[in-house]
Amino acid sequence: MNDGHKTLKACCAAAYHSSDVVPLLLGDAYHPGGAALTRRLADALAVAPGERVLDVASGRGATALLLADAYGVEVDGVDYSPAATALAQEAARAAGVADSVRFATGDAERLPYPDGAFDAAVCECALCTFPDKARAAAEFARILRPGGRLGLTDVTADADRLPPELTGLTARIACVADARTLTGPAGYESLLAGAGLRTTAAERHDDALLSMVDRIEARLTLLRMAAPDRLRAAGLDLDAAPAVLAAARAAVASGTLGYALLVAVKAD
Ligand SMILES: C[S@@+](CC[C@H](N)C(=O)[O-])C[C@H]1O[C@@H](n2cnc3c(N)ncnc32)[C@H](O)[C@@H]1O
Repeated sequence: MNDGHKTLKACCAAAYHSSDVVPLLLGDAYHPGGAALTRRLADALAVAPGERVLDVASGRGATALLLADAYGVEVDGVDYSPAATALAQEAARAAGVADSVRFATGDAERLPYPDGAFDAAVCECALCTFPDKARAAAEFARILRPGGRLGLTDVTADADRLPPELTGLTARIACVADARTLTGPAGYESLLAGAGLRTTAAERHDDALLSMVDRIEARLTLLRMAAPDRLRAAGLDLDAAPAVLAAARAAVASGTLGYALLVAVKAD
């Protein structure tokens, strides 16, 4: 792995898990659509009790815990951030499911699991941040058994049409600057096809992204009044925030930015 990629991954992981302001802004699930969209993803994947599922970039464990609780599956979660792994493990212990939901620190581009170990894998709002997406897609395919299914929910973006407020490092960490279109030569479907994963379902959920923008704006307004020092300590540029949020809304309205759910299958 080159040093630039290593820095990007560490930076992204730290941005999500080294400040107590992020959970205040995002809530439990660090992806648009929250638990409802995770359930939609699990239904589209038709996960069945007893199956083994991998959650790639599992963050604080919300997706993995929901899958185990509501669908009766055994889940492994892996995230680049040791701090996220520790929080997720603690959440699994607190929920009394540490036997069936395990978490490890690791890189999506080099998954610490053997070939064919999982019936299904999910990855929510994270492939968009990985520097080497083709390698991550190859890893998704490698750890799935033949006939195994992959479920993604992710930001979609037409990079050539993104406004300046939505490019650069912060926008990349916020899942926007390096997101892909759903279709097209550099899109998620082609990326997965290159790794031997055939897309069987794709849905647009752009409203989920708009709701997240609304929620972040409302919480920023509250925090700006209640705890401005905490926001500044977290490195948030409060002056730039309104323009960034407005640009995100406009980009969703013009179809430049969105959120999608995608299911793909590994050949038998
Ligand atoms: C937007 S959050 C999504 C977290 C979780 N999937 C959810 O929906 O709540 C992105 C996550 O990707 C993780 N991440 C970033 N790069 C990674 C990599 N190369 N391998 C594994 N996890 C990574 C971050 O640490 C962070 O937890």
